[in-house]
Amino acid sequence: MTEDEYIKNLYIREDAVLEKVKRSMVDNDMPRIALPPDSAKLLYLLARIRGAKKILEIGTLAGYSTIWLARALPEGGSVLTLELEEDFARVASQNFAMAGVKDKITIRVGEALNSLRNLRDSGETFDFFFIDADKIHYPDYLEMVIEMAEPGALITADNTFWGGRVLDPADKEETTEKIRRFNRMLSAGERLEAIIVPTGDGLAVARVKDLPGN
Ligand SMILES: C[S@@+](CC[C@H](N)C(=O)[O-])C[C@H]1O[C@@H](n2cnc3c(N)ncnc32)[C@H](O)[C@@H]1O
Repeated sequence: MTEDEYIKNLYIREDAVLEKVKRSMVDNDMPRIALPPDSAKLLYLLARIRGAKKILEIGTLAGYSTIWLARALPEGGSVLTLELEEDFARVASQNFAMAGVKDKITIRVGEALNSLRNLRDSGETFDFFFIDADKIHYPDYLEMVIEMAEPGALITADNTFWGGRVLDPADKEETTEKIRRFNRMLSAGERLEAIIVPTGDGLAVARVKDLPGN
């Protein structure tokens, strides 16, 4: 048995709802790029430990990670999730109703960068972020979410290993470079303290320092 299998057997329970969400991706011919269950469990625990009440997710797909996040919320908490594709948002919305969490979740359809600009300009703030949409914009997403972060907020992001490509100095492809830049921003950002947890494809976790410096 591998370490991964040991963890999955012992700690991960995917109930019938989550199984149905996965089936909805197959039935609707969607890409199979939802978070793996161990990363989703970690995200859920981080949101609980942070006591997150207002979560912003970038990249909904069929709502698998969104449902894990919604389940971490206390009474009155909310998730706003951003998705480009109208059809994916429709499937996700059906899944939220099926999961009994639709009152906690709002989906905003459109380019995430536009939605983020609008949210920032209207003075919205959040205490937990999960970045999981088009990787080429990770550095832009990070700049935007820091502006909307409450002191002590957590910023998380998937695919920070980019399938191992960030580790290969010969790989100069644009998306790889953008993810490298994102990882450097997390490590060097004056307002951040961060780490990559080597679960799935690398789940970055950063804390936004309380002002003025802790
Ligand atoms: C990796 S999937 C999200 C998976 C989801 N977080 C989960 O774990 O269940 C990335 C999603 O981001 C969406 N996306 C891609 N480019 C986008 C953009 N520019 N703005 C908003 N969403 C985008 C894709 O349509 C896709 O549904």
